[in-house]
Amino acid sequence: MHIRPLKVGRLQLNNNLIQGPLAGYSCAPFRLITHRLGQPAYCTTEMISAKDLAHRSVKPKRYLWKDPAEGLVSYQLSGDNPQDIAAATKIVTDAGASLIDLNCGCPVTKIRAKGAGSKLLTEPNKIASLVMAAKANTHVPVSVKIRIDSVSGDNNNLSVAKTIEAAGADLLIVHGRHWTEKYDIPCNLEQIADIVAACKIPVIANGDVENIASLKRTFELTQCAGIMIARASVGRPWLFQQLQAESKKEFFKPPSLAEIGALFSEHLHSLAELETEYLAAIQARKLAKYYIRQHFPSEPFQLKINSCETLSVLDALIKTYFR
Ligand SMILES: Cc1cc2nc3c(=O)[nH]c(=O)nc-3n(C[C@H](O)[C@H](O)[C@H](O)COP(=O)(O)O)c2cc1C
Repeated sequence: MHIRPLKVGRLQLNNNLIQGPLAGYSCAPFRLITHRLGQPAYCTTEMISAKDLAHRSVKPKRYLWKDPAEGLVSYQLSGDNPQDIAAATKIVTDAGASLIDLNCGCPVTKIRAKGAGSKLLTEPNKIASLVMAAKANTHVPVSVKIRIDSVSGDNNNLSVAKTIEAAGADLLIVHGRHWTEKYDIPCNLEQIADIVAACKIPVIANGDVENIASLKRTFELTQCAGIMIARASVGRPWLFQQLQAESKKEFFKPPSLAEIGALFSEHLHSLAELETEYLAAIQARKLAKYYIRQHFPSEPFQLKINSCETLSVLDALIKTYFR
């Protein structure tokens, strides 16, 4: 097993398991719970538009706020313009970023239409200019998150990875799917392995790690420097600690159902404090599927939660089911 401390630039990380970015989920309340129960190396924010940030038109509490009790946080920026990335880098550095990540993998049409996300993979030199803009405006390490096989039908991974490395990135994170593949088909670990072998900077593998077997398989097949987990730890923030324990063949006792319910309620109360009670109730609907997975069938809980609009009703409903 390859769980171990990892150095990224000048930053020494306690381990090499990272919470990935999830738009709509990874704001401060989510990260706080993940830090407390899982203690990953760091958590990543949801993607933040560098242009909107540079023009001060993002909600600062949702996108910039970092709770003092959180551990290390990487702020993920999306954009295609070095001036925007430079300005946004300064802002997130001032907000307390421990690392800065550049999103070069997002498959969403509206992001690609702006020339950002996975669209950047067809222009490695543009990615290099974004890396240099970020590096010139911060003292924290800069990472880049890409998807594999950047040009359809022509495996362009290595030139993208080497260009990113030459531009001065401290870390490369590779999601093992092409942008057209969204999230459903299995990850291509062989292509991640080729990138790992070609790079001198640490390369993090990402995709489909959800338990000790998939963690082990990803480490072995890619020889990566660390692993990013995104979806599997939502509603299961202790996963990182569980993987650490199981990798040492130690017994791990997951929280009881009542404790998981209390955690779900805590998460919603923190969201209400960060935004509004109504927005917390709306987010409860998508968080529910993660908190209940593997514990009980989603219906009728999901149907009931879909009509809740206040924290008191949510708390009561959660208490009824999580016991
Ligand atoms: C709902 C959702 C939101 C996501 N948001 C982001 C994002 O903001 N930035 C990013 O780089 N990747 C984002 N991703 C991709 C994940 O970070 C990750 O690369 C992908 O889910 C594969 O990892 P996993 O199998 O561990 O979930 C998102 C994925 C999902 C399903």
